[in-house]
Amino acid sequence: MKKKVLAAFMVACMSLGMMACGGSGDTTADAPAADAGTADAGAAGTESAPAADAGAEDSAAGGTITIGFSQVGAESDWRTANSESMKSTFSKENGYELIFDDAQQKQENQIAAIRNFIQQEVDYIVLAPVTETGWDAVLQEAKDAGIPVIIVDRMVEVSDDSLFTAWVGSNFQLEGEKAAAWLDAYLTAAGRGEEEINIVDIQGTIGASAQIGRTNGLQAAVDAHDNWTLLAAETGEFTQAKGQEVMESLLKQYGDQIDVVYCENDNEAFGAIDAIEQAGYTVGLDGDMIVMSFDSTNAGLTDVLNTKISCNTECNPLHGPRVADIIQKLEAGGEVEKEQYVDEEIFAVDGTVATVNVDGVDYEVTVVTQDVIDARAY
Ligand code: AHR
Repeated sequence: MKKKVLAAFMVACMSLGMMACGGSGDTTADAPAADAGTADAGAAGTESAPAADAGAEDSAAGGTITIGFSQVGAESDWRTANSESMKSTFSKENGYELIFDDAQQKQENQIAAIRNFIQQEVDYIVLAPVTETGWDAVLQEAKDAGIPVIIVDRMVEVSDDSLFTAWVGSNFQLEGEKAAAWLDAYLTAAGRGEEEINIVDIQGTIGASAQIGRTNGLQAAVDAHDNWTLLAAETGEFTQAKGQEVMESLLKQYGDQIDVVYCENDNEAFGAIDAIEQAGYTVGLDGDMIVMSFDSTNAGLTDVLNTKISCNTECNPLHGPRVADIIQKLEAGGEVEKEQYVDEEIFAVDGTVATVNVDGVDYEVTVVTQDVIDARAY
């Protein structure tokens, strides 16, 4: 996988004709973090997309490549790391001009931004979509303008998949299934396999792939367990403030009936933990409520280390180098995989569950230590 990053970097060097790229070691300061290129090309790539057309032609001569990037917003630590990855990758030094638009979690802002990018005749449009649906019309406009569109992070659901060139992001359903498998294995190992377990789900932005996959992963496990009850599922919009607000209201409604709080990202978990503790309850495997989370950001794993979050399933935000790899392949006239899932880990507070099994595949569970946190890029 590191080979892949290196290859993209070399192609970038060649197409830009930048002597500095290979010349001196200190020019790598702008290069992405070492573990950034973990796109698992083999995991899910199904079909290939044709090389980019009109937009790419302008930039193929070796000039600056202009990217219009419509980012969801700045709702979470994950999103901040993702924006940073895109900005550091698509820098002037690397031969790009990045037009970055923060849509503040609103699809209408993203549609306006894309129309703006089309007017500005950018070489590529990169879209991190807030929700899956509602993109057909504007992506058709981009296609008509001959601008290749790369989807990153969450997915789009469109009637014609030629409306985008490639997608790279997470397998959110697998994330949810891994988390639910950990809960099942933990409760069984702890002698609570037959106990009545009440769960609340603080969901992400409704209609986002990250919400759909994680909610579905939990729901499937609830359906498979007669003794698990999903007391409530309510959106926390992937933010700390809303996560806290939702948890406060759930505590008023269900109080100490709640056994497990399944938060669909780290920031919601931070807010939920504040609400739980302020209400006088304790969190953790030996506490009143088990808190689970997604993302595995630095702060999220720190809350695992201090035993507040019991299980944290990774969602990797370092997509900049992956998108650059796709663009450089297109610039070189090559083919790219239509869909690429990234490899992701699962972390826990202790080693009670060594591996989780989903669809016959074992995934190792990493016990969080300070060294584990220190070794990570986000
Ligand atoms: O789409 C990825 C999700 O979006 C991350 O889990 C969350 O933190 C972000 O806001």
